[in-house]
Amino acid sequence: MSKTSPARYTITAALPYTNGPIHIGHLAGVYVPADIYARYLRGTGQDVAFVCGSDEHGVAIPMKAKKEGVSPQELIDKYHHIIKKSFQEFGITFDNYSRTSAKIHHETASGFFKKLYEQGDFIEETTAQLFDAEANQFLADRFVVGTCPKCGYEEAYGDQCENCGSSLNATDLINPKSVLTGAVPSMKETKHWFLPLNRYEDFLRSWILEGHKKDWKPNVYGQCKSWIEDGLKPRAVTRDLDWGIPVPLKDAEGKVLYVWFDAPIGYISSTKEWAEREGLDWQSYWKSSDTKLVHFIGKDNIVFHCIIFPSMLKAHGDYILPDNVPANEFLNLEGQKLSTSKNWAVWLHEYLEEFPDMQDVLRYTLTANAPETKDNDFTWKDYQARNNNELVAIFGNFINRVVVLTHKYFEGRVPQYGSLNEHDLATLSEIKKYPDILADSLERYRFREASQELMNLARLGNKYLADEEPWKVIKEDPERVKSIIYVGLQVAVALSVLSEPFLPFTSEKLKDMLALKADDKLSWTTLNARKSLAKPGQQLNKATLLFRKIEDKEIQKQLDKLAATKKANELEKSDIMAQKETISFEDFTKMDMRVGTVLEASKMPKTKKLMVLKVDTGLDTRTIVSGIAEDFEADDIIGKKVTVLVNLAPRPLRGVESQGMILMTENAEGKLVFLNPDETNVTNGSVIS
Ligand code: 2FM
Ligand code: ZN
Repeated sequence: MSKTSPARYTITAALPYTNGPIHIGHLAGVYVPADIYARYLRGTGQDVAFVCGSDEHGVAIPMKAKKEGVSPQELIDKYHHIIKKSFQEFGITFDNYSRTSAKIHHETASGFFKKLYEQGDFIEETTAQLFDAEANQFLADRFVVGTCPKCGYEEAYGDQCENCGSSLNATDLINPKSVLTGAVPSMKETKHWFLPLNRYEDFLRSWILEGHKKDWKPNVYGQCKSWIEDGLKPRAVTRDLDWGIPVPLKDAEGKVLYVWFDAPIGYISSTKEWAEREGLDWQSYWKSSDTKLVHFIGKDNIVFHCIIFPSMLKAHGDYILPDNVPANEFLNLEGQKLSTSKNWAVWLHEYLEEFPDMQDVLRYTLTANAPETKDNDFTWKDYQARNNNELVAIFGNFINRVVVLTHKYFEGRVPQYGSLNEHDLATLSEIKKYPDILADSLERYRFREASQELMNLARLGNKYLADEEPWKVIKEDPERVKSIIYVGLQVAVALSVLSEPFLPFTSEKLKDMLALKADDKLSWTTLNARKSLAKPGQQLNKATLLFRKIEDKEIQKQLDKLAATKKANELEKSDIMAQKETISFEDFTKMDMRVGTVLEASKMPKTKKLMVLKVDTGLDTRTIVSGIAEDFEADDIIGKKVTVLVNLAPRPLRGVESQGMILMTENAEGKLVFLNPDETNVTNGSVIS
């Protein structure tokens, strides 16, 4: 670490929307790299605040709540807990995971808005906005779709085009359409507060374009450059909505803060919540120039974190700006864009059901193949190969060999070595390079590279053992084997420390195996200072397997699951209804279906569709109300044989009790037809089974 090292770090990870669970794309793009970075810094003794929380406002929440038939509050509670649990299960070590519905956040965001308002940093303007008269709702953000004026994509949202990443105003959309009703919106006047981004152009130019040309990732820098050069416009920071943080002004009834105004302030509120709990001063993490602020996000969030939030922070005046925003590109799954609505994802909670206790395998695969510089593809075959060829064959194999041999030859004690030859000394000095090699990659946010360097350290150990062949040497020169195992164990200890940010569960197991848990002085920074990492005489614990091989059939199962999803999506697009959930044989046998004959039929007065039938079911003659009047004339069906579900609970339809259901289907023209048994020779009451 250089002399100009910051005094502390504030690391933020994008607040996930609480409108669905978390999948591998989220983990790869944001949370795993952020966690590796935070763990690395803590490992090197840095003072770190790693914060996140649930993003519970914005249009996405009430829209999804409506779809799930629950209230927005029920929705955010449900997903907040699912998401929080997934993060814990995958070892994401937030110092605090808050939520934007928390009181502290409402207060912090309102206070922030008020300060900017009082300083005269907003423009207050009544403008015509898109309005859906049918839904009685102004249309902004995800309430409206239309054609992107920048790239022509036809499904762009009112705040952003997901195709080209442009940040938009709803009124920029060509051919806008309400997502709520499908209506073409009208224009209606409404008052809002705007942050005039144009006033921050000079600041952004010098801070980003001149100040961060070299250290920001080219994808992030490039996006910023194009926004700034396209010309920045005032951006509304309030919305006409009933879900969100109320605008804290007298004349702002029915208006809330724009979700992208309040969400990034959530980083500050989460830090406050944490500091209060820990008895620390939150302000030093946000207001001291010797604090390094780093935002981990996906590429669709770049404009908000590099242009809008910094302009807000600058306007406020008390806050530091991010030192870096190492945004990742997107992860695809088996060649297709990850999609929550199409269920094209590997959900974290489902992954753990299939691969229990294998969090590190996913963490490693997602890091080794992270979408750092371009969109990348997650494939199950690659996942299997990374596991079997790297984690099992290199890392796990090396550890297993060296620990098993220590038990076999030295009763599990680290041997007291005799003399060390050139190969031993070269290997020991090679180990010492790794803390710096990894740190160098991590400090530049190159997590892929770092994960490969970690694997190289395991390779070094493996090759050392393969070259020295202690299992052969033991026969002629047992003294020499003491040195070999001693050197091998030094690599193992280094791996246990340096793997911690990447493979935290494995590192824990390995430290346990090497009996290092009580050694609280062993850390990333002390690795090089110590003569012996594994001290001679130290008793190791039993060897346990760190990784297990993944079989082809396990991968095939995942591929089959995705193929079924693909099929279901195709069916949904076509008119064929997707197959319903599987039922048990017992469930099926509960249904009592019989053959019957229609004895009487008459159209129900004042209805379009309903027909009242008298049916001989073989058991009795009963009344059945059926929605077939648009497709049949009463006279045409008298005497017809039909299939009847006879044990369906009776229910009243327009005042007539229907005592069963006639089974029907639709023909190719969309006309209803009876599901008829062979018309000629079946007795009424025959069971359909
Ligand atoms: O894109 C998203 O999922 C947003 N909820 C990220 C918010 S990040 C921050 F500003 F809070
Ligand atoms: Zn676009």
